[in-house]
Amino acid sequence: MSAQLIDGKAAAAEMNARSLERAQRLREKGVEPHLAVILVGEDPASQTYVRSKEKACERAMIRSTAIRLPGNITQEMLIGKIRELNEDRSIHGILVQLPLPAHLNPDEVIEAIDPRKDVDGFHPVNMGRLSIGLPAPVPCTPAGIMVLLRRYGIDPAGRHAVIVGRSRIVGRPMAMLLINAHATVTVCNTRTPNLGEMTSMADILIVATGHRDTVNASMIRDGAVVIDVGINRFEGKLYGDVASDAADKAGWLTPVPGGVGPMTVAMLLSNTLDIAERG
Ligand code: GUN
Repeated sequence: MSAQLIDGKAAAAEMNARSLERAQRLREKGVEPHLAVILVGEDPASQTYVRSKEKACERAMIRSTAIRLPGNITQEMLIGKIRELNEDRSIHGILVQLPLPAHLNPDEVIEAIDPRKDVDGFHPVNMGRLSIGLPAPVPCTPAGIMVLLRRYGIDPAGRHAVIVGRSRIVGRPMAMLLINAHATVTVCNTRTPNLGEMTSMADILIVATGHRDTVNASMIRDGAVVIDVGINRFEGKLYGDVASDAADKAGWLTPVPGGVGPMTVAMLLSNTLDIAERG
């Protein structure tokens, strides 16, 4: 193994310590930072993520209210619930855990969230603002990746960043952040012919497909920065989207677990506090 590991756990711990201080300062001023998390249905991975968000809030003295709704809820009822939370002045941030059950329309659900309470930054207004470089809540996973790059002195300016995956949660906002940071950005998807040719050109390679072994050592340029966003469970173990042989080729690599994952939750706390501090 030659790659240096990017320690997301340590970076997240530092951010979370700062978040605790920020929450304490708000509480001294009589403001209780408050995040509402909506979970629809019984998806086990989503349940795990929501529990970890609740625990992280608790550690940072941020109040969290998890709203668990049945998997067969109607679109109208779900949007009605979101409108209630929009009106509730005690709530600063609203997050709807994705993916939603197939009968629900995530675009309409996200659009129902008040953009000012959109801690995920997924609302079209916030995505639009991000795309033209205006201040906006930034989606947590790509925001966390930018913090990691900065922490390790990796400046995207003038570098070629290749992103594999074009999701709302990671790929698209990641592209916008890297463009704003003056990188040359290529975004690949499942129809990209000869993916390895593209990924081999990357100085910074972000892999966010949700599929194990999307990228292996033969697809990585020597010394590249490789950011593995995947969290794939297989036979009780966690795997990223990048094969383990990548460590022989990459210069920098985020491990799974302990890389990007902890940063996502840390950014969620930070985004919630940004809104609460704005008052
Ligand atoms: N599902 C997986 N990642 C995320 C995230 O960052 N936010 C939401 N709302 N759902 C997710």
